[in-house]
This record gives sequence, C-alpha cells and structure tokens, in this order.
Amino acid sequence: MQRFRALRVIEKSPGFFDQEIVEQNISDLPEHDVLVRVHYSSLNYKDALSANGNRGVSRQYPHTPGIDALGVVEESKNPKFKAGDKVIVIGFDLGMNTPGGFGEYIRVPAEWCVPVPEGKPDSYWMALGTAGLTAALCVDRLSRFVAPSQDEVLVTGATGGVGMVSIALLAKLGYRVVACTGKVDHADMLTKLGAIRILDREGIDFSSRPLDKPLWAGAIDTAGGDLLAQIIRSLRYGGAVAACGMVGGDRFETSVFPFILRGVSLLGVDSVELPLEEKAEMWRRLGNEWSVENIQDYCKEITLEELPSAIERIYRGKMVGRVIVRHRF
Ligand SMILES: NC(=O)c1ccc[n+]([C@@H]2O[C@H](COP(=O)([O-])OP(=O)(O)OC[C@H]3O[C@@H](n4cnc5c(N)ncnc54)[C@H](OP(=O)(O)O)[C@@H]3O)[C@@H](O)[C@H]2O)c1
Repeated sequence: MQRFRALRVIEKSPGFFDQEIVEQNISDLPEHDVLVRVHYSSLNYKDALSANGNRGVSRQYPHTPGIDALGVVEESKNPKFKAGDKVIVIGFDLGMNTPGGFGEYIRVPAEWCVPVPEGKPDSYWMALGTAGLTAALCVDRLSRFVAPSQDEVLVTGATGGVGMVSIALLAKLGYRVVACTGKVDHADMLTKLGAIRILDREGIDFSSRPLDKPLWAGAIDTAGGDLLAQIIRSLRYGGAVAACGMVGGDRFETSVFPFILRGVSLLGVDSVELPLEEKAEMWRRLGNEWSVENIQDYCKEITLEELPSAIERIYRGKMVGRVIVRHRF
C-alpha cells in the first residue's frame, strides 16, 4: 500500500490545535476522480486559519490544509485527464474540508483541475497560487470601473501575497499604485514591484465622517474592517474598491453617502467558487500578457518540515512575500 507524508492539524484538546507531519495511506484520501501527486503547494492566509482551528474554514480535524496544489495526475476515472497530465488545483474545497496540498497526494473531483499552462516553470504558478489568482480577479474587476489614466489607486496588505501581485499587475497595466503597508521597512521591495509611493498604515487618520477628502480613483483591499470603511469614504467620484480580504476585520461600518453622492462601487471578489472557465482565463492571462516576471524574486521555497513556523508568521501578519512548499518528487 502506497504511503505519503502530510502536515496534519490535530485538535489535541478542545480548542487547542497542533501540527504534525504524519504518514498516511493513499486509501485514506476521499473517493474522487483524480489522484494527483503534488509537486508544489503554497501558503496562504486561509491555510493559517485552517491550521489554527478556524471552523469557518475547516469543520473537521484532523485535517490537512493547503488550498493550492500543482502536480501530476497518477490515476483518473474521468476521461478529461490521464496519468501524466500536469494540473493546478486551487480553491473549491481543497484544503478546507478536503485534504489539501500540504500532503504529497490529493484526490479531487476532475472539475477542480485546470491543466498547467505551457511556458512557465511549475514554481511560477505556485508563487502566484490563490493569492495571484485573487489579485488577477481584483484587477480584472477594478479595471472595468477605473481606467489607468485616472488618479492613484491604493493596494492594502501590500507586502502580503494578494497585495504584492496586485501592485505588480496594476503597475504593468499603467496604474499609479500607492502601496499601503504596516511594514514600511519593505518599501524598497514594493517600489520594485511597481508602487509609486508608500502609505504607512500606522499613519492613517481614521475618521467617522460619512465622506472624507477624495483621494483614490480605486483600491484593492485585503484588510476589510476599519481600513475598508476608510477607503470607501475616501474614494473619488465614480471610484471603486475591490474587496477580497479580512486580515483587519470581518465587519465594517459605512453610510450610504459614498454610494449615493459619489457613485462609488464596492466590488466583492471570490476566488474559491469562481467557475472553472474564469479561473482558467485568469491563469491564461497570468501566463501571457499579465505575466508577473519578478514574483519568484519575492518567493521562498520551503519543505514540509519548515511549514509550521511559516504558518505562524503568516497568521501573525508578519509574512513578507510568498512561500511555496516543495514536496519530494
Ligand atoms: N476572496 C478570496 O477569494 C480570497 C482569496 C485569497 C485571499 N483572500 C483574503 O485576502 C487577505 C490577504 O490574503 P494574503 O494571502 O495576501 O495574506 P498575507 O500574505 O498574509 O498578507 C496579508 C497582509 O495584510 C497586512 N495586514 C496584516 N494585519 C493587518 C491588519 N490588521 N490590518 C490591515 N492589514 C493587515 C500585512 O501586510 P502589510 O504589513 O504590508 O500591510 C499582511 O502581510 C486574507 O484575508 C485572505 O483570507 C481572499
């Protein structure tokens, strides 16, 4: 019986979670159509939530997180895929309640698999991962409302995965990007990615007025909470914010005035349940006209053994850049 290694999250006692690298049998994986030997996974904030027992992400423990995976099909009951095909599996239930990419094998429905586009190394796709896909979706949505020639656009969580890729993509498309960060000592990296200036998150003056001085033509927000509320009241006439995250809080208070007096738009972005064709289109762009050439300069490759400390860092908001996990293959 073939065995493989996985990082498992175990509930040691009620409410107390620990991580262990364990050996499992392939037969322990759920019954789905496609068995994939995972070459690479990547680390996202959601994995840290799952690894810390967040039941909104993962209901059952023990559990293997890892919402991203890239690997080679070993068995397929679906004619769309055959042994040897290289696939990306991102989103849907992977790593949430289905064992994810922090295991050397996954078994998933064929409908979750996208063939790996040609022309880039495997590590490029995982350097992007869910963060890159989400950034592409945010940019796609925002660009329907805000043209590059307009005033500055703001990106929050700038040193995080979604933030970094958003800055790189917006700059590539000609937007004037301001990077909002709590880590101003990484300004150099953000400038190299394409930001024209840095906004220190600590220095933001949060107001409770319904409308504030109009500053931004648009924004991509990964924070939620008070920061999202402040962005909405600071958008220029006709501006828009693509909101995808909640590192700063899952609630925010606003009024109707930015919407009815400035005609601003709040654009929700979801990468998880997005139809497969739209995911494939974003990957196509990221492999071609939206290629983020320098993303691998800001990406660290780690092993399964190094994952727990990286999980802790991203959970505490201390991570800079992307982390990919390279399995033995
Ligand atoms: N909707 C979707 O489909 C989707 C997909 C992917 C991710 N997300 C969400 O998007 C968010 C970012 O994901 P990620 O993978 O980029 O995470 P990440 O790599 O951990 O980056 C998050 C960044 O947010 C900033 N931050 C930390 N604490 C903050 C606070 N209290 N207030 C404001 N900013 C704070 C930090 O950057 P600075 O120090 O530079 O500010 C941090 O590096 C998460 O909430 C994640 O769940 C949603």
